[in-house]
Formats: sequence, structure tokens, C-alpha cells
Amino acid sequence: MQKVIVTGGAGFIGSNLVDELIKQEIEVIILDNLSTGKKENINPRAIFYECDVSNMNMNSFIYLFKDVDTIFHLAATPQVQYSIENPTDNNNLHSLINMLEVSRLLKVKRFVFSSSSAVYGNPKYTPIDENHPINPLSPYALHKLIGEQYCKLYSDVYDLDTVCLRYFNAYGNRMPKEGAYKSVISVFKEQYSQNQPLNIVNDGEQKRDFIHVEDIIQANILVANLTKNHKGDIFNVGTGQAYTVNEIADMFGGNKKYGEKRIEPKNSIAENAKITLDLNWKPKNKLKTWINTFTEEN
Ligand SMILES: NC(=O)c1ccc[n+]([C@@H]2O[C@H](COP(=O)([O-])OP(=O)(O)OC[C@H]3O[C@@H](n4cnc5c(N)ncnc54)[C@H](O)[C@@H]3O)[C@@H](O)[C@H]2O)c1
Repeated sequence: MQKVIVTGGAGFIGSNLVDELIKQEIEVIILDNLSTGKKENINPRAIFYECDVSNMNMNSFIYLFKDVDTIFHLAATPQVQYSIENPTDNNNLHSLINMLEVSRLLKVKRFVFSSSSAVYGNPKYTPIDENHPINPLSPYALHKLIGEQYCKLYSDVYDLDTVCLRYFNAYGNRMPKEGAYKSVISVFKEQYSQNQPLNIVNDGEQKRDFIHVEDIIQANILVANLTKNHKGDIFNVGTGQAYTVNEIADMFGGNKKYGEKRIEPKNSIAENAKITLDLNWKPKNKLKTWINTFTEEN
């Protein structure tokens, strides 16, 4: 990798990826429309184009991207509830197809797509491996699934090398404080800082697999550097270890408040054997350590 595009590079995961790539002396072009991303997240050493990748005129842009060898596609409206309320919003799908087309025209070496564990829907068994049945329960999840199939199609028909990473629940530096990906960790962090009781949805016994953003970045970089060819291959990116919401609340400490009810999957835990074996990837960060560091500092 020498020169890359990161779409969504002003967002939570994208900006962390850009920082790491730049640390590794890789030239980075960020494409972001700042819809959920933030200007302050943008690494000043990256080239930044404020643009909507779902709706850009390829021909007027393409000359700017000469010599790009890898595209990391993270741009999306990552909001499940929003997608349910706005099923005709095609941003995520159109962005993906446009960027696949840019990749084809540029003849890039690899296209890495940020997909989601949301494609599995309510798990039939855990841990969830890549062969678990697919059952998207929102337009967001369905667009991710169709996106994966588009990646495979571009590999089969146009010989573009594509890989799809299905992230579980991300946390870490710059995680969003609002939106559907506002995780229970963000919520607890805010409540803990304000000395409020921690708000538990349902009975708190639902289990979640939280993956630190640095580990997601490592998965992206490892997969981008692989010499083996890919044709829409899919990898789960999760720790394989899940905690109940009650356990996470106990890691923060303080009082808990129950009452809010919501329909949500009972347990979501990744089987990560495939990525561990194929990419030699291992999550390095531990949720408990991260929460301890936060509570000690606050
Ligand atoms: N955060 C998670 O837990 C999680 C889990 C699974 C998958 N993902 C996926 O990872 C990716 C990154 O998620 P995130 O949490 O960093 O979200 P984010 O909202 O912080 O980042 C998304 C970025 O994409 C940009 N964007 C959206 N539409 C665009 C468009 N049409 N043109 C240009 N830029 C556009 C936004 O401005 C933002 O900077 C997304 O594809 C998301 O679906 C995230």
C-alpha cells in the first residue's frame, strides 16, 4: 500500500484508520461529506475532499485519484433506526456502488468494504460464524448485505479484488455520542461522568461483543496487505468474548437504573476463527482495561 482512499475518513472508525495509515507513511485521500463525520477528526496530513460519494461525477474526479492502490470504503449513514424510518434513503448502497466503480476505473489492487454484523439479524446460535444464516432486519443491514454481494459481483465480473469486514460493536477514541451506533459504552461513559445512574435497557442480561476501534483498524490494514487474492471474501471482526450489559455497568461501577424496554437481539457474539487463521489477527484491547482506565481518569 502506498496511496489509498478512505471514504468516511472524518468519521469514528475512518479517522482512526487514516491516522494509522499516515503513521505508516501511506498517502491518504479522504472523501467525506461530513454528514456524521467531523472536521476536527480529519488528519491534517491527509488530502481531504468534501464530497458526497453516493452522487459524484466520476469523470471529473478520477484524475485526482491517479496511482491509488487501495480503497477503504467506510462512508455510510450507520443508523439502523434512521434506515427503518427512511427506507428510500439509498446513500449506503449508492456510495458503495460508486466507489466500486471508481475502483474498477482506477484498477486498484484491493477494495475493502466495511460491512456489519447487522446482516445476521437475530442470531440462531452463538458464537456467530461467517456461515451463520443471514437475516437483515433493517434497510441498513440489507444494504450492507447487498453491498457484500456487489463486492463479489465486481470480483467475478470485473476481476476487482474485494474484501468485506463485518464489524461487531465498535468502541474507542471518537466513538459517537449520538445516533444508532451510540453504544451502551458511550451512554454509560456520559452517565458515569455526570454521576448519574447507569440506564439499563431491558433486564441487562443481553450480551454484546465489543471490539476496540484499534483492532478494527488492524484488521483493515492486515487484509489490505494480504498477498492472496480475494473475491468478496467475508471476515467477522469481533473479539469472540461478550459481556452482559449488567457486567459492563459493573465495570463502570455506580448505581443502575432499569425500566427502558426495547426490542433487540438477546446475544451477539462473534466467532473470529476465520480472521484469526487467515490474517493472523488477534484483538489486543480488552474492554475491562479500557473502562478501568476511563474510570481512573475521571
Ligand atoms: N461503529 C460501529 O459499531 C460499526 C459496526 C458495524 C459496521 N460499521 C460500519 O463502519 C463504517 C464506519 O462507521 P462509523 O461508526 O465510523 O460511522 P461514522 O458515522 O462515524 O462514519 C461514517 C462517515 O461516512 C461519512 N459519509 C456518510 N455518507 C457519505 C457520503 N455519501 N459521501 C461521503 N461521506 C459520507 C460520514 O460523514 C462519516 O464521516 C460504516 O460503514 C458503518 O456502517 C460500524
